[in-house]
Amino acid sequence: MSPIKEVIINNKTNVNPIWIMRQAGRYLPEFREIRKKNTDFIKLCLNQNLSSEITLQPLKRFELDAAIIFSDILMLPYGLNQKVSFKKNFGPILGQLNLNEISKLDDVDFVERVYPVYKAIDLVSKNDLTKNKSTIGFVGAPWTLLVYMINQQSPKVKLKDNFFKDNFLINRTLVVLEKFLKIHIKNQIESGAEIIQIFDSWAGLLSENDLPNYVYIPTLNLVEYVKTLNTPVICFPRGIKNYKNYCEIVKPDAICIDYEIDPVQIEKEIKIPVQGGMSPKILLTSKENLKKEAKKYLDIFKDHPYIFNLGHGVLPETNPDMMDYLVKMVKDY
Ligand code: CP3
Repeated sequence: MSPIKEVIINNKTNVNPIWIMRQAGRYLPEFREIRKKNTDFIKLCLNQNLSSEITLQPLKRFELDAAIIFSDILMLPYGLNQKVSFKKNFGPILGQLNLNEISKLDDVDFVERVYPVYKAIDLVSKNDLTKNKSTIGFVGAPWTLLVYMINQQSPKVKLKDNFFKDNFLINRTLVVLEKFLKIHIKNQIESGAEIIQIFDSWAGLLSENDLPNYVYIPTLNLVEYVKTLNTPVICFPRGIKNYKNYCEIVKPDAICIDYEIDPVQIEKEIKIPVQGGMSPKILLTSKENLKKEAKKYLDIFKDHPYIFNLGHGVLPETNPDMMDYLVKMVKDY
């Protein structure tokens, strides 16, 4: 069994698996080389040969325990026929959401639009570089996708004043999202993904009162679905304050934590396997500091099933040597 599954399924504490969110990305010169020639990000995600090659790039350099497929959570709205593009130094820009159109879309049309993602998973999971490692598939959580689809840009730029105005639109969109997220998850698993991670990057925007409607219930539905497919599911509700509540209600197989939450408190309160936590900014400091901070997480979780990762994606300005140092350090711990 792959080390990550040993942690999630068998609750092993004597293996220290590591993978890193955004491990395939702009901090790697070999990625930037491909990206330079492929200016349309969505098209790049839809090129199975290039996206599988990019997925494997970090595994050629570092002894990571997982390949996370090079794709994006916004491939889902793309598959639903909503326009998605990426503007440099700004982030994603989406076209107007058309409820009528997304409600009418059938499964076959959706699968056809995102099919290369599944082909890439198939290629990656069959490659020798992923032998005894986990191929991780992923989706955005319903809430985070709803945010992008209605807001049409990152809420980091600005959240529309009237975001919550149209209740009918919100509720109908959540229903459509649940249907197509299940299809997207099932196809990733059938193509070779052996773990699913659900990214809820904007869970932290909501107050405690709104979490049940937009985060807990829609995510629980997905988690229960992934479990019926005999596949472990990791949830990452970035920015929430009460991870304990989240775990008790949503019941993922493992929980990924962000860098704002106190890991000591998490270790005490949470019984399921934990992943992540360290701030990506630590990789921009010195090797001594990196060693100290990584050791802090490893020490805290030394008797707890733990998968090393960061508390958010690796930053583009990271020096690959620092990543190398981190992976070796975790392996030698
Ligand atoms: O982790 C991996 O290596 C796998 C690939 C992956 C990408 N995006 C590739 C990507 C994954 C798992 C994602 C998830 C994703 N995408 C999330 C959830 C995690 C998070 O970051 O909170 C979100 C919110 C998105 C939406 C998205 N995609 C944004 C906001 C951006 C622009 C911001 C940025 O970093 O430029 C993207 C683009 C994107 N997705 C890039 C990569 C490598 C950068 C593309 C580039 O310009 O080269």
